[in-house]
This record gives sequence, C-alpha cells and structure tokens, in this order.
Amino acid sequence: MMYLSLLGWLRWSGDKAKVSIAQNTETAARLRCICCGATPDFAAPDFRCTACGDLLEFFFPGWTSDLNGRGARSSTNPAALRSLWLKRRTSGEALDQSGVWRFRELLPHIPNPKNKEHVITLREGNTPLYRLPRCARAVGVENLHAKHQGMNPTASFKDTGMTVAASSAHQQEFRWVACASTGNTSASMAAYAARGNMHSLVLIPDGKISWGKLSQSLDYGALTCQLRTDFDGCVRILNELVRQKPVYLLNSVNPYRIEGQKTAAIELMEQLEWEPPDHIIVPGGNLGNSSAIGKALLEMLELKLISRLPKLSIIQAHGANPFYRSVREFGGKKLEPMTADTLATAIRIGNPASWKKALRVLQTTGGEVEQVSEVEIAAAKAEIGADGIGCEPASAVTLAGLKKLRRSGFVKSGEAVVLILTGHLLKDPDFTIKFHRGDLFAGTGDAAEAALTKHLQRAPVVLDADLRAVIAALDGAERNS
Ligand code: F0G
Repeated sequence: MMYLSLLGWLRWSGDKAKVSIAQNTETAARLRCICCGATPDFAAPDFRCTACGDLLEFFFPGWTSDLNGRGARSSTNPAALRSLWLKRRTSGEALDQSGVWRFRELLPHIPNPKNKEHVITLREGNTPLYRLPRCARAVGVENLHAKHQGMNPTASFKDTGMTVAASSAHQQEFRWVACASTGNTSASMAAYAARGNMHSLVLIPDGKISWGKLSQSLDYGALTCQLRTDFDGCVRILNELVRQKPVYLLNSVNPYRIEGQKTAAIELMEQLEWEPPDHIIVPGGNLGNSSAIGKALLEMLELKLISRLPKLSIIQAHGANPFYRSVREFGGKKLEPMTADTLATAIRIGNPASWKKALRVLQTTGGEVEQVSEVEIAAAKAEIGADGIGCEPASAVTLAGLKKLRRSGFVKSGEAVVLILTGHLLKDPDFTIKFHRGDLFAGTGDAAEAALTKHLQRAPVVLDADLRAVIAALDGAERNS
C-alpha cells in the first residue's frame, strides 16, 4: 500500500492534470465531450472537457463496426449477450455475482495488469422488481412496478456506479478518493474505498443530510467534513480541491459512475424479458441517474437488445426544481441555478451537473419532467410503504410524479410503468417517524395540506402493559380497517 500510495502521489506531481482512461480492445470505450465532441485520451481531474468545460461520456466505437457487420460477433450479438448474462447468474465468480459486472460487455474495461484485484465489488445490483398493487389501484394504472435500487449493499443506487468508478481509482493507484454528497454517494464511496484500501474524503452539507447516511460514512472510515454550505457549495470546493491535490473525484460527473449506473436499466429489461415498459420514472437531483438510465436505453436499442424506447420521465421536488424550470420555462436552452430546499434531502440540489445529459434523454425518449410538493412526497412515501416496500423520501417523488402524469393524461391507464426507487426506507427514519406522528409539517405553511394525509399516518400507540388495552387497540383497528 505504501508503495502504491507513493507512486500515486509522484505520478500526480509529475503529470498533474491527467486521469488515465482504460483502453481495451474488448469493449474499446473512449471518452467524448457531450458538447464539442472532442475525444480526449485522458480526463482532467474534474472530468470536464479541457476544450469547452462540458461533461464527458463514454462511447464504444467498436460497436459501430460490429453492427455494420450485422452484429455477428458475440460482443454485440443480442441473443448471445442475453444468454451469457443469464448463465453468469449461476456462477460462483465475484464478477459474475455482481449485478453490474455481469453486464461487463457494455462497460469500460478495468484492466488488471499486475494482479486480479482491481475490481472492487460488494455484489451490487441484482435488485428486485416488485409489483405495487395498492399504489397501482390508487393511481389508476394496471401495470405498476418498482425497481428497488435501495436493495443495494449500502442501500442506494449509488453502489452500481461506485463499483466501476472506485475500481478505476484503484486501478490508477490513487490513495485518496473524494465526493461532495447529499449522503448516499458518500456512504457508497466510503464503503468501496474501504474495500479497496483507499482513503476517502466526504464533503457534505452540515445538518442537511440524514443520520442513516452520515453514520454509514463514519463507520466505513471516511474523513467526513460537514461544510457550512449546501450540496452545491460542497461541489464547488471539491472541484477546486481535485485540481490541487491527487484526489480522485467520485461524483457522477465521473463518467465511470454513469456507466455502472446504466446496469440498473439493463437488469430491468432482463427482468421484463426484454419487453420494455411504456414509462420509466426517476427522481432528479444532480441528474446523473436519469442520464445513466437513458444512456443504457439508447445503447440497448442500438444493440437491438430492446426494440423500442420507454419514455423516461424525471421528477423533482418543488423546492429543488431547476431542471423542471429549465425545461418548462426555457425550453431546455439554459438552466438557472437556485438555492434548493426540500425535506427529501437526497435531491436538495440547485445546480445539477448532468442537466444537459438528462435533457437529451428526456428529448430522445419523449419523457416528461414534473415537480411535486413536500406533502405529495410524504404521502407517496407512505403509500409505497403500505405496499410493503420501504423507500426514502427522494425515491417517493416517482409515485407522486406518476399521479400528476396520470392526471395530465401523459400516462394512460393501460400502460406499463416502472418507478425507480433509489434509496432504502432506513436511510432516513426521522422523516418517516415524524410523518406518522403528524409532526413533519407542524408549524409550517404545509400544515393544512398535510392534514389531508392523516389517513396514511400510523402513529405508534403507547399503552399500559395490559392485555385488555392491547385487545381494545386491536378491535379498534379492525373496526377502522
Ligand atoms: N434518490 C436518492 C436516494 C439520491 O441519493 C439521489 C442523489 C437521487 C435520487 C438523485 O439522483 O443526483 O443522479 O439525479 N444523491 C446524490 C448524493 C446527489 O450525493 O447522494 P441524481
């Protein structure tokens, strides 16, 4: 480790502004700027295009030549890929057991020049697809599923991208990795860094993330800095930091993150036997996840793994809605950063980095963008919970958004809909307890609207240790059910 870290430090001082990108003939991933189209061989430490400052993405030039040859090679042959991926589900190999690396033909390769330990995996992915029967009835759609990305090792979708990006950092012998976060990225990064013997630096907004998430990064050994600013302020400081110190950036501007997060969509299509739903609905914060899922859909269409595109819709909280406003007010021509505020702290983001990537996905798939209120988020979370599926507030914007998209007629009753639930209920138990006790909106301007959600609240009942009291409570509940 000592040798590796020293090497990483020296490499940085000698060659300051380069993060190397694994080149490999198997998957032949290359970087491209989403704006000016430049195709650099190396990425800058902030993963921005050195020519125009916009974001980079991976593309796979080898696919085009394969496809021109009618996809005869197994690397892009859809039937061969599907059966290879299925076969890996019975394998005992760590890479095959990962729900991310199982799909490695569609990911950049992480070469192992010296040993076989560069890929850091916690067996992420492999998340369940659940039916939501009660929610479906309430919303008025026949076919409603939730893909629960909160069932990942650190309980959020971030693990699918982190396994790829942290492996890349490890392969390049970085000693430190870092991120700015609203809590889930930091939890995930800290875990993968620990598994890969790297140090991790977390920048989070002081007081604005949930205890569940904070406790994770502490336990996984990160240097956790709570900055007196918001998420966007943490990002600004991190961008400066990576230019000055040999620290590998693990926010979702890192294109390896996006590649890993693509696999949620690939796995979803496999679970649906490659029959795409009509709609996929995702929460929008920094907009990396919608970009990743959209990228996967487009690539699967190109490789003929699916025959049509689902519409990908993005939902934001009303108090953190810069992307909604960009699309609705400015036709996507610009995004005005804002000071964000929402109890769904995971998506409390006012200046989303990946908004142009997300816009492209929205336009290509024909999706919609919606915003939902704080009370709508809380009610939707309790409704998902009542179907026996726990998620965190940011995930529940999907159901709240679906209700609006049903009312506007964008989603029809006979259409198949999949909600992407991004984080687990236990990430933010405070929110849940306050909601059920009726305290969440007490004394706020939302109190009157919140009164309409009383029927969803299940406050704990405190009783004497007396059998008759328990029976009376049971009988009362039965009468009201
Ligand atoms: N849902 C959850 C639970 C999240 O943690 C996040 C983002 C999102 C949705 C939004 O995803 O940013 O890709 O649009 N959390 C980040 C973090 C920003 O730092 O954990 P996005």
